Amino acid sequence: MSDDSRRSRAGTAAVIPAAGRGVRLGPGAPKALRALNGTPMLIHAVRAMAASRAVSLVVVVAPPDGAAQVKALLGSHSLPERTDFVVVPGGDTRQESVKLGLDVLPPGIDIVLVHDAARPLVPVDTVDAVIEAVRDGAPAVVPALPLADTVKEVEPRTDGSPEPVVATPDRGRLRAVQTPQGFDRDTLLRAHEAVTNGVTDDASMVEQLGKPVVVVPGHEEAFKVTRPLDLVLAEAVLARRRANDGF
Ligand code: CTP
Ligand code: MG
Repeated sequence: MSDDSRRSRAGTAAVIPAAGRGVRLGPGAPKALRALNGTPMLIHAVRAMAASRAVSLVVVVAPPDGAAQVKALLGSHSLPERTDFVVVPGGDTRQESVKLGLDVLPPGIDIVLVHDAARPLVPVDTVDAVIEAVRDGAPAVVPALPLADTVKEVEPRTDGSPEPVVATPDRGRLRAVQTPQGFDRDTLLRAHEAVTNGVTDDASMVEQLGKPVVVVPGHEEAFKVTRPLDLVLAEAVLARRRANDGF
């Protein structure tokens, strides 16, 4: 079978790391279980992945002590019937959580998306664009956006004193990276076996293997819910969608 026809028939799975506490969001339930307009953030994220017709399996990596609760949540919310769902408990770091999700992927899955539960509102067109770029032959694909702010590299100070600026990178060459990131399965598995130092995204592990990583356009609604103000923005986006659906 040619590489092309293998990829065109590839099964696609999404791994959703959802095991974080959400320290920056403040006290409360684990971040992925917090509600947005009455529905847990995780359910929004699962629906966003299952909305892609290419995605046949969603693996949710639950808080270490929350797998039963997450299973119950998936059972009590409406989700597409053509998609399978698996829940596994997560680890101490995002990287460990993703690895625990990859460990349960069945045979027949050739393309893997890794998507933060904390990006509940990514539109399906962005998901499909990432999958398409992997199908077209890229071993690793990340959605990303140009930056609005100018970025300074500084000499960090922890005592609150002014931080000396070291450099101003050319903003035109910088991108803010989102998820879902998409991978050729074998490439991602090899990256997780080879790279063990702390990284904050999966594509950078593939970069460390020396493999090419490409960027496709991200979407402003794929922002990460990190701080309390992000909850306000997420609920506003949902309200706007509801209002637009009414027409
Ligand atoms: N994540 C995970 N396992 C961990 C840590 C993070 O699965 N041990 C997941 C989070 O649930 C989230 C995604 O990785 O969906 C991105 O992480 P981040 O936004 O940093 O979430 P938290 O780590 O939960 O937040 P904070 O860093 O503020 O505690
Ligand atoms: Mg974190």
